[in-house]
Amino acid sequence: MASAARKLQLNPVDPENLLDPVPFYKELREQDPVHWSDVVHAWFLTRHDDVMNGLRDSRLSADRAKVLEHQFQLMGLSPESIREVTDTFKRQMACKDGAAHLKPRRQTAAAFAPHVLDSWRPLIHRTLVKHLDKLRHRREADLIPEVFYQMPPLVIAELLGISAEDRERLQEWGEAVTQLTSTGAARNILEAARLANEGQAKINQFLTALIEERRREPGDDLVSYMLRSQEQGGMTTEEVVANTGLLLAAGHLTTTDQLGNGLYELLTNPDQLALLRKDPTLLKPAIEEMMRFAPPVPFVHRIAVDNIELRGRTIRKGDVVFLGLAAANHDPAAYKDADRFDITRDPHQQKSMSFGFGPHHCLGAGLARRELEIAFEELLHRMPELRLDETRMPRIKAGGLLFRGFESLPVRW
Ligand code: HEM
Repeated sequence: MASAARKLQLNPVDPENLLDPVPFYKELREQDPVHWSDVVHAWFLTRHDDVMNGLRDSRLSADRAKVLEHQFQLMGLSPESIREVTDTFKRQMACKDGAAHLKPRRQTAAAFAPHVLDSWRPLIHRTLVKHLDKLRHRREADLIPEVFYQMPPLVIAELLGISAEDRERLQEWGEAVTQLTSTGAARNILEAARLANEGQAKINQFLTALIEERRREPGDDLVSYMLRSQEQGGMTTEEVVANTGLLLAAGHLTTTDQLGNGLYELLTNPDQLALLRKDPTLLKPAIEEMMRFAPPVPFVHRIAVDNIELRGRTIRKGDVVFLGLAAANHDPAAYKDADRFDITRDPHQQKSMSFGFGPHHCLGAGLARRELEIAFEELLHRMPELRLDETRMPRIKAGGLLFRGFESLPVRW
């Protein structure tokens, strides 16, 4: 029996759905919560409990290399054309399951302990202020390219001990990989594969040299930290290279996009902005609400390693499954008035799925939260009349399913 949603042939990568996804999530959640998409050739889970269970279900593997190979095979393309990317993915903790995931995760996680994160606050603040100072004599700016796109990558690069100049090259190469892996973002898939493979090879070459240098001259950066854990029987050099690349990539676009998505919600909900200005103790809850309401990672994906029965449907071994973090965040079964942006929600009503859940819960959540807190505190302080620029429209990126953020967010103050 075909459900209404299946008859509608919903297209998850339709630009309209990417632009304004909340009605699309609602339709899926209500009409076909375990939805098979013929467009993306994958399942979509959108209810809060299904997403949460999916994230801790060992029958759903995080092996993104397999997902990418599977997608290429479906298109009749050879997995060989993306070998450099998939081989690197296989060495990253984010793509490992079970015990193989635990080891690199534990060894890296100690570097993100709260007292270490707090010691990074001055660096985060310095990096932000450097960009905000450039706007001191202005009353308008496009905050995405001028501030938000600059700050998170500089912070993570500095934590890894990578110079600003090298960071720019790495960013360019990394974007070629993101274009390929964010479903629906790449228009010409073969060209995207070529560029991604090339970019990945350059990243790996650069990081291998950096790691050799750091082995000779250790410092107090994250790379030296991972190398010390390698000496204690941890990761191989290739794994340190792959996980350094993962931190660099994961620490960049997500936080940039969350800064933009969060500010947009604040500025389009002036009553909430006024509340926050009146009571600065609402800053932390406001950030949690921004993350719940408009997360930068709307979906994460998995591949089934066993058959799974769910709500009368059968997800077969080998099928790709998209878990809707953003859709779960808007599920009325989990949140009261789920589609209302409310910075005064009960704390337990603010716990969102935006950093994931279970074994792969975001390793950088503490860093991201500190970056968001410092950025919003400083923005509100420096820009008392902050508002959207009514003469220039904000623009969402053509980002595909896995990332959602603005490429332009013009404001005045
Ligand atoms: C994992 C979101 C910032 C490093 C994840 C996952 C999500 C996420 C949803 C889980 C992926 C999955 O289950 O497949 C976010 C958001 C951020 C952010 C919304 C900003 C607002 C950061 C930062 C870093 C980072 C700043 C690094 C410095 C990682 C790593 C993983 C991860 C290493 C993989 C963890 C594992 O597999 O065990 N992130 N992230 N993230 N994130 Fe973040």
